[in-house]
Amino acid sequence: MDFLTDLDVKGKLVFLRVDFNVPLDDKGAIRDDNRIRASLPTIQWLLERGARLVIASHLGRPKGKADPKMSLAPAAERLAELIPNKVTMAPDVVGPEVARLKAGLGEGEVLVLENVRFYQEEEKNDPGFAAQLAEGIDVFVNDAFGSSHRAHASVVGIADRVPVRGAGFLMKKEVDYLKKAVHTPVKPYVAILGGAKVSDKIEIIESLIGKADSILIGGAMAYTFLKAQGLGVGTSLVENDQLEVAMVVLDKARRNAVSFHLPQDHVLARAAVAGAETRIVEHLPFPEDMMGVDIGPKTVEAYGQVIAAAKTIFWNGPMGIFEIEEFAKGTIGVARAVAASGAVSIVGGGDSAAAVKKAGLRDKISHISTGGGASLEYIAYETLPGITALEK
Ligand code: 3PG
Repeated sequence: MDFLTDLDVKGKLVFLRVDFNVPLDDKGAIRDDNRIRASLPTIQWLLERGARLVIASHLGRPKGKADPKMSLAPAAERLAELIPNKVTMAPDVVGPEVARLKAGLGEGEVLVLENVRFYQEEEKNDPGFAAQLAEGIDVFVNDAFGSSHRAHASVVGIADRVPVRGAGFLMKKEVDYLKKAVHTPVKPYVAILGGAKVSDKIEIIESLIGKADSILIGGAMAYTFLKAQGLGVGTSLVENDQLEVAMVVLDKARRNAVSFHLPQDHVLARAAVAGAETRIVEHLPFPEDMMGVDIGPKTVEAYGQVIAAAKTIFWNGPMGIFEIEEFAKGTIGVARAVAASGAVSIVGGGDSAAAVKKAGLRDKISHISTGGGASLEYIAYETLPGITALEK
């Protein structure tokens, strides 16, 4: 696979796929521009070398229809504040007006296309749409690590319709870190997995069994594992269709001598709302009218000990409903332990990254991935469709 630095871009029309899928508030303002900043090294490198730069991204899930609330315009405005170059927002993704704007781009100028997901052809990786995206383009650069698990037209379909292609700096940085965790983790290697659903994480858990020394489970996912063992978890969120899968995973972990940790104590509440009265319990079953909302202090302590001994850590998913102050202690406790560990630590996923930020520990983590789903899939499959497309 070629990297940016292998490419000649002077005067070339470069199509750069980025992941500008940034969170917006009710008024459409960007809440966190980290993903835009993360691609600046690539954008600046291309512009300094005289590329005529077309930038494409999705934002949200507009499901194939133009929706002004998911326009890329705020991201284009933010980019224009961050770089001195001329930045123009295109009114569309493809079509005659976009073709005219592309043709008129000067060296060191940027055209930001509208949200590629305004066209349903994007997610279908439609060949005709990919060809339209590729029209007139000399070089395709993919810096959208966070979207590269999606085999969509602007990520995959376009790649072999353009004469030259390569990976951007962010893509390279993400892959270099994740490779370490996949191929050559310094042991002990500890994986911390949280979040609501076992079904979202099943492939990664299976792939980690045999690679990781310890797997620490938190979040609502833990209740599915506990219920699978016949334990009563009250009104906790459980995926009843995943109970068998959970048992298979527990059995596989046992046979592979991976230390697979489930929470030892739990924070319970009657409702997942701020101000709810909480109770810490060690023993199951939970009262029938209560649900688990966070891991308890004993679990934080026990997980902390495993984390303190780690040399490589991969963390994806919060330990509880951390958006609510009263249920955030478990996630923050784990974030502190990871930050204090001295291990190579990789945090993936919007929620765990937000927790690290909330705890003021961003600088103490080796690598915070811009991709949630993408980092999980990379760890599980050791590549992504968007990376494979660059290798062809
Ligand atoms: C993300 O936010 O994880 C990426 O931008 C991918 O978004 P998606 O899950 O809507 O494909």
